[in-house]
Amino acid sequence: MAWQEQIRQNSEGNPSIGVLASEDTNPIGMAVGLHEQADKPEDRLAAMWISPDFRGKGIATSLIQKIAEWAGESGCEALVTCVNQKNSHTKVFYTKLGFKQVTDQACDEIDLRLLLR
Ligand SMILES: CC(C)(COP(=O)(O)OP(=O)(O)OC[C@H]1O[C@@H](n2cnc3c(N)ncnc32)[C@H](O)[C@@H]1OP(=O)(O)O)[C@@H](O)C(=O)NCCC(=O)NCCS
Repeated sequence: MAWQEQIRQNSEGNPSIGVLASEDTNPIGMAVGLHEQADKPEDRLAAMWISPDFRGKGIATSLIQKIAEWAGESGCEALVTCVNQKNSHTKVFYTKLGFKQVTDQACDEIDLRLLLR
């Protein structure tokens, strides 16, 4: 899959963390944190996904909290993620968590940033 290959390439040689939510032994959600550039005090949140039956229960929020903790421990100042403008529901979700838009409204894919301190 394209996103898996992208994460593999971005994380190669760089620190990263994958967090998985499960019910019993079944995976029901995931998220990935990537420290892409050594000289940039920002980590990337990627591969955010919760199984449809388990949405709206705060699972994504708790996975993002884990990644934010991991990023903060290494001195990172912000988490950045990318969302498609058409995915307005997800944009609302990130905004509720405190992410703010940092790239041009005219782009299809926009970056959102959550300050960690
Ligand atoms: C977006 C997604 C990760 C949210 O996961 P979730 O576990 O349902 O989110 P949470 O339960 O932690 O929600 C946190 C808050 O955001 C709100 N929220 C979650 N999804 C929302 C949506 N689609 N639209 C509006 N608000 C939403 C919740 O109501 C909650 O608000 P509250 O605290 O006021 O009740 C999940 O819907 C998903 O996997 N979507 C498809 C994949 C995707 O879009 N990934 C992101 C790619 S950029």
